This record gives sequence, C-alpha cells and structure tokens, in this order.
Amino acid sequence: MSATDKPLLEVSDLVVDYGTRRKPVRVLHEVSLTVNAGECLGLVGESGSGKSTLGKAVLGLVPVAGGRISFDGRDITHAKRRERRELAADIQVVFQDPYGSLDPLMTVGDILAEPLATAGTGRREAKAAVAEMLDRVELPSHVLDRYPSEFSGGQRQRIAIARALVRRPKLIICDEPVSALDLTTQATILDLLIELQRDTGVSYLFVSHDLGVVRRVCHRVAVMYRGNLVETGDGEQVTRAPEHPYSTRLLMASPVADPVGQAERRRAWLELRQEQAAV
Ligand SMILES: Nc1ncnc2c1ncn2[C@@H]1O[C@H](COP(=O)(O)OP(=O)(O)O)[C@@H](O)[C@H]1O
Ligand SMILES: [Mg+2]
Repeated sequence: MSATDKPLLEVSDLVVDYGTRRKPVRVLHEVSLTVNAGECLGLVGESGSGKSTLGKAVLGLVPVAGGRISFDGRDITHAKRRERRELAADIQVVFQDPYGSLDPLMTVGDILAEPLATAGTGRREAKAAVAEMLDRVELPSHVLDRYPSEFSGGQRQRIAIARALVRRPKLIICDEPVSALDLTTQATILDLLIELQRDTGVSYLFVSHDLGVVRRVCHRVAVMYRGNLVETGDGEQVTRAPEHPYSTRLLMASPVADPVGQAERRRAWLELRQEQAAV
C-alpha cells in the first residue's frame, strides 16, 4: 500500500501552553500539518522544539489551548475520556524508551493481549491476533512467556510496535522510536516500520531529532523550531536541500556516514552559524 493524498490527521493552528493559567508558557504556536492515509510524516527539530508535545496533543495527553485536531474527518480536539478510549483503536503510540513503556511485571503475551482484552475481543481471537503480530515483528512464539527485562532494546521495541499494531490502528505516533538504539538495530527497526506500513497501510507521525533517520522512512517532513513549523515538504528535498536556514542547520548537525562529507558539513555549519550570529 502506498501513501495517499487523503488526510487522515489534520492539525490546524494548534496552540499548546504549559505553565499555569496565570503564567502560561506557549510551547506550540499555531502549528498546522496533515498526515495522509498510508503516509509517514516526519516531524523533526532540535530537542525542546515541541515535537513530543504535538504528538501528545494528538493523543489527548496535553490540553489544547487553541486550534483544531481532526482525525478521519472527526473533530477530536477536546475528546472526552470515553471518546479517547474508542480512539485508542485507531491511534496508537510507540515511545523512545521501551523500558519505560512496557510493564516489567507482565509477560509479553499479556502485554500484547491487553489492548485486545480492553476492547472486549474474545480470548481465541486475541490469541490468534497476538500470534500474527509476533510473526509480523519477527519474534518467535516462545517470547510470549517472557518478561520485557529479558530482551535487548531492539527486541523490546519490536514488542512495543507489536502492541501498538495489535488493534490495527490507522495511525501510530512514533516518538523517537529508534533514538535509544545502536545504529545497526536502528536500521533493522526502521526497515520493519517501513515494511509494516507497506503491508498494513498504517500512517505514521514520526517524531525524530535525526534527519538521517527521517530520510529513511518518511514521505514528507515537517520541521519544527521553537514551537513553530518552519518548513514542510517532500522528505528527500527537505532532508537534502532544505529551504529554511534552520532546517539547513539541523541537516548539517546530523551525523553522516562518510567522514569527508562530515568534515565538509561541519565546516559549512560553523560558517553558517557565524553568519547567523553576525546578523
Ligand atoms: N510537562 C511540561 N511542563 C512544562 N514544560 C514542558 C513540559 N513538557 C515539555 N515542556 C517544555 O516544552 C517544550 C517542548 O518540549 P517537547 O515537546 O518535549 O520537545 P521535543 O519533543 O521537541 O524535544 C520544551 O521547552 C520543554 O522544556
Ligand atoms: Mg521529544
């Protein structure tokens, strides 16, 4: 399945404030973006630029101070708890830290079956769905009786992905899903995410501070800077020849495999920084 032009998620002029009512701190300034059905939209930007906050707003984990979030044609900006529970069938999340996001006291089998049990799926059907998911994320069936602590970071992330997928959602918010992994493991998990998208048509809102990672998986890329969206465009174009100076800086700060290119970029980056400091 390939990406379509049909928006699944539409975020319009989204405003999020932290702090107190009397002293709010604006973290997102009227941010607008869309994620189409079957598409991977990369959301990049340096640490603290508001990427995770945007993901949390879509998941209903932070209050929205302005603008609108619509999913599958329906306004979910201020969805109440009951509606959120229903939405969990369609919107799921994979976090950076599988250690923190998987309950250490539950077996993998229980972790994967829980979202189905919550949804009222029968035991037999749930068992079959869990087996299928394990297969999709390329884990053997004997992992079902094990606990998260028995696995490596990459395997844990496979478990987290399987749990996110088990109810067959339309959208997965991936928040730095490979940032805690070594480079080889990153590559295998990214390939898995690409394959799963191709097979199931699921959309990703893919949050990352790493343009190299985003280039590998995303169709389009949106660049955040201090709570503002500064550039959105084709993944290849934004990650190789960005228009906004901030995107350029971000691109040049991202590690590249070849050392000569790296030295070149480093020099260009320093020059640009000096130019910007001089303005
Ligand atoms: N719960 C919170 N309370 C107050 N400020 C927060 C909270 N979470 C994040 N922030 C601040 O909001 C800004 C955006 O954070 P975040 O969305 O986590 O950025 P990113 O994911 O791009 O690193 C940062 O300045 C951060 O310090
Ligand atoms: Mg973050």
